Amino acid sequence: MTRRPLVAGNWKMNGLLRQLTELEAIGAAAAEAGPGIEMLICPPATLVSATSGLLFGKAATGGQDCHAEASGAHTGDISAEMLADVGATYVIVGHSERRSDHAESDETVQAKAKAAWRARLAAIVCVGETRAEHEAGETLDVLGRQLRQSLPEGVTGANTVVAYEPVWAIGTGLTPTGEDIVEAHDFIRKTLAERFGTDVAEAVRILYGGSVKPGNAGEILGMRNVDGALVGGASLKAQDFVAICRACP
Ligand code: G3P
Repeated sequence: MTRRPLVAGNWKMNGLLRQLTELEAIGAAAAEAGPGIEMLICPPATLVSATSGLLFGKAATGGQDCHAEASGAHTGDISAEMLADVGATYVIVGHSERRSDHAESDETVQAKAKAAWRARLAAIVCVGETRAEHEAGETLDVLGRQLRQSLPEGVTGANTVVAYEPVWAIGTGLTPTGEDIVEAHDFIRKTLAERFGTDVAEAVRILYGGSVKPGNAGEILGMRNVDGALVGGASLKAQDFVAICRACP
């Protein structure tokens, strides 16, 4: 099974209209890269519409979160349908910053993944252990629990991407050892196979996220069962993001 690599930029709470000029280079690089690699930008909600317009036909656009419901009295929230309405095709759910800043449980994340599917968006479901859990040797237990509880029934290679983001590697410049990344990704693939069957597990892309930079992208993206990257800080500069995309094997 060949999985098309996906390199996704999560801009988090960064980006103003004037910074959309970065998208020109990203769109051009995506057009040049052709179908061999998929590029995705997840800007803040205020820029999803403009981003999807600028990247249309070249790279994908995604949201960073969605509400579980399609509409209603939820001040400040955005639904998956609203993201789809302005051109998004992906949405990140369960990012560790949502889990910690907004106390999102695995159950909430699962409801959001279902909401993404309802709106025909692919859900990028994030999992990952904290530093304390890592140091206690609990990484695989945490990943197993998060995968079990955050992923709804009905996962396919088209509707779901799993992102492994060790919380302690996010924005810190620290990355796990190569062995640790491979162990986590192998474990995620095995866990998906046990629950959804081998064909589905082989089709789902598993991204690594946490301090991916142009300097380490080649090594990380070349690892077994790493099908791409979810990039934070280094996605804010087109030059760095494009360099990471070009490092895909
Ligand atoms: O979602 C991407 C992310 O959390 C990683 O952030 O800045 O370490 O690449 P960063």
